[in-house]
Amino acid sequence: MSNPSLLILPGDGIGPEVMAEVRKVITWFGDKRDLAFDVSEDLVGGAAYDAHGVPLHDDTMAKALEVDAVLLGAVGGPKYDDLDFSVKPERGLLRLRKEMDLYSNLRPAQCFDALADFSSLKKDIVAGLDIMIVRELTSGVYFGEPRGIFEEGNERVGINTQRYTESEIERAARSAFELAMRRNKKLCSMEKANVMESGILWREVVTRVGADYPEVELSHMYADNGAMQLVRAPKQFDVIVTDNLFGDILSDCAAMLTGSLGMLPSASLGAPMDNGRPKAMYEPVHGSAPDITGQGKANPIACILSFAMALRYSFDQGAEADRLEAAVEQVLADGVRTADLLGEEGVTPVSTGEMGDCIVAALDASL
Ligand code: NAD
Ligand code: IPM
Ligand code: MN
Repeated sequence: MSNPSLLILPGDGIGPEVMAEVRKVITWFGDKRDLAFDVSEDLVGGAAYDAHGVPLHDDTMAKALEVDAVLLGAVGGPKYDDLDFSVKPERGLLRLRKEMDLYSNLRPAQCFDALADFSSLKKDIVAGLDIMIVRELTSGVYFGEPRGIFEEGNERVGINTQRYTESEIERAARSAFELAMRRNKKLCSMEKANVMESGILWREVVTRVGADYPEVELSHMYADNGAMQLVRAPKQFDVIVTDNLFGDILSDCAAMLTGSLGMLPSASLGAPMDNGRPKAMYEPVHGSAPDITGQGKANPIACILSFAMALRYSFDQGAEADRLEAAVEQVLADGVRTADLLGEEGVTPVSTGEMGDCIVAALDASL
């Protein structure tokens, strides 16, 4: 049988830096666990624009649709800020999500014991935190029509449209209920049904889907209150399901509960392919971090943990995913820190590459 296939799209800024560390981990699994992948690499974002004049080449899109899973670093950066909107690096990422139909974006926020002091919140509020945000990823205001900047009288108007069909809400909700069933059976749905019709429909459909999951305790919260509750008492949540834009914002917010945006992985999942695996792309929640690019300061853990999610959700390798997560936890418990995780006196940060090496050493020690 051929090896499972992985398409790596390092992208821009710190994307290639953190992806180099994931490469070390992938190599380790091939060498030491007989878990080899057929890895190919291609361009996305600004890197693709520089080479082809578009943020995602059609050939790359076609490859992404063929492989078992895609791993993406990050896209964007100031160099591309003035490009026409249609070719901005972010459009490449959004095209991948849309054409792969990756409607369910899993963004776990877990606070490792060793980092409980690093959150901007008090330790007892975040210690032991383990929540999962399910962000709808292929619809809502990111994709709704009409959109654009138009002339209106003697001025211009910028328009985006929040639009959700019942089936779009239903499939995202279903994936969140399924996850809740495998966790603590608590689901909180967030929208703004008090001011948005799409929110009213969202609440109605999520409630209806909930009838199929009587064991799951379902609650509803306005998303603004949800943001406040996330920083007031985040441990009240188990799984949160929300739309594309609220999910983007709430997950960055949740990231800081874990100590750093450099810690948060994600899995973007679609419908099952012929082989039964979901179409999937794995990417850290953070961006290309232009302020630290090229300095060896980037934390590769979010990207490495995204590969752990690939092992779990695309390759049925839950035990190996646990092994990788445990290796990360061990390295943090040993006091190894990249610069974004500093706070303790007298700790010298390690570089991106050193963090990757330490995680590989911890994997070796796990054998
Ligand atoms: P960002 O996530 O790139 O950076 C926000 C802050 O977090 C910065 O101070 C950065 O240094 C820090 N940071 C992020 N990741 C880190 C890591 N792994 N280790 C250490 N520190 C880290 O967000 P931004 O500055 O708002 O956006 C920069 C660019 O990235 C923009 O072009 C944006 O569109 C893009 N972006 C891309 C993605 C993606 O590719 N998925 C996600 C978010 C933003
Ligand atoms: C994210 C990013 C993206 C988003 C951008 C880069 C398109 O912020 O993945 O969280 O807004 O979804
Ligand atoms: Mn974001």
